[in-house]
Amino acid sequence: MLFNRIDSIELRGVTKRYGDFVAVDHVDLEVIGGELLILIGPSGSGKTTLLRTINRLVEPDEGEVFINGRNVREFDVVKLRRSIGYVIQQIGLFPHMTVKENIALLMRLEGWDEEEMEKRVEELLDLVALPREFAERYPHHLSGGQQQRVGLARALALNPPLLLMDEPFGALDPILRRQLQEEFARIKAALGRTIVFVTHDIEEAFKLGDRIAIMRDGKLIQVGYPDELVLNPADEFVAKLVNADKKFKHLDTLKARDIMIDVEPYLVEAESVEAVLEWMRENDREFAVLTKNGALVGTVTLSSLLKAGTLEEAIDEPLRLSPDDSLASALSEMKAKGEFMALVVEGERPVGVLLASEVLLRLV
Ligand SMILES: Nc1ncnc2c1ncn2[C@@H]1O[C@H](COP(=O)(O)OP(=O)(O)OP(=O)(O)O)[C@@H](O)[C@H]1O
Ligand SMILES: [Mg+2]
Repeated sequence: MLFNRIDSIELRGVTKRYGDFVAVDHVDLEVIGGELLILIGPSGSGKTTLLRTINRLVEPDEGEVFINGRNVREFDVVKLRRSIGYVIQQIGLFPHMTVKENIALLMRLEGWDEEEMEKRVEELLDLVALPREFAERYPHHLSGGQQQRVGLARALALNPPLLLMDEPFGALDPILRRQLQEEFARIKAALGRTIVFVTHDIEEAFKLGDRIAIMRDGKLIQVGYPDELVLNPADEFVAKLVNADKKFKHLDTLKARDIMIDVEPYLVEAESVEAVLEWMRENDREFAVLTKNGALVGTVTLSSLLKAGTLEEAIDEPLRLSPDDSLASALSEMKAKGEFMALVVEGERPVGVLLASEVLLRLV
């Protein structure tokens, strides 16, 4: 592996032309280590081309790509590709090889011994929820969804810190696609990789993506967290794509109480920084809602406590909402005040926490 983890991937002014046609047009984009970044946009907007500049299947005409601050052109291209898992819609399994041979291909090239390969293939089959007996089957004896799982297992074989996925579920029927998305969300959480993921499906984007980058005609139009895109679309095109109107309609009929998180696990009655820190350690939290005789005092975070001399200095005055506030007004208020969360109170008593991003994700 050229790198064991990804701190950042930076694309600077990346441009790719085919003759006079500009497939990717001066794209600047940063992928944050550990995130799943979605690339979405219409057919022909340059998503695949842009993705492939990262593993150098496409060499840009202008601009540079950096991984962990190093220009990808400095890397040996074979080593680079083995450090990056690549999953595509057409899967690309070798038909004359068994599932096991397909998955173990790169391990073999890397000179692993039989026993190690055997063990790793079993691990990977477990991970992608395929029965171990499938190891001896040939790809044409598998369904499309099963083949796609094998493709994912193969991409993960060498444990690459970075995965590039180009519409991996695009060819599957809608129900199977949902199932694989669910499974993939689980795998993603378990692995903690950096992933760049191309899709056409905005629901998939909202479901799996940490951030979403929107492309059109080779240009990057906007990149942001789902709530930013819905609340602040760069233009009509983005607004339509993320279906901002429809979401706001939902938001009007729903109230804060419908979607708030229970505040109980975050409630603390304490009088000192030390006491709250002690409670955070015991409960494995970095955020708390302070009360006194059941009434809201304010919120504190681990980092504010560590910086502050006294409890008073650490306390934030959160945005307060009532359970019957509509989500639409709640969200615009949060946005206006630059708050990513708000506390829902009944009188003085905290009853819930509302997170802007959660709200939008649940409404998709
Ligand atoms: N090798 C090539 N030669 C000529 N034109 C190309 C080549 N590769 C891509 N293009 C063109 O560049 C544009 C962008 O292609 P790209 O495959 O990146 O789009 P995309 O966003 O991935 O589309 P889709 O959603 O259909 O997969 C398209 O118009 C395509 O026809
Ligand atoms: Mg494509």
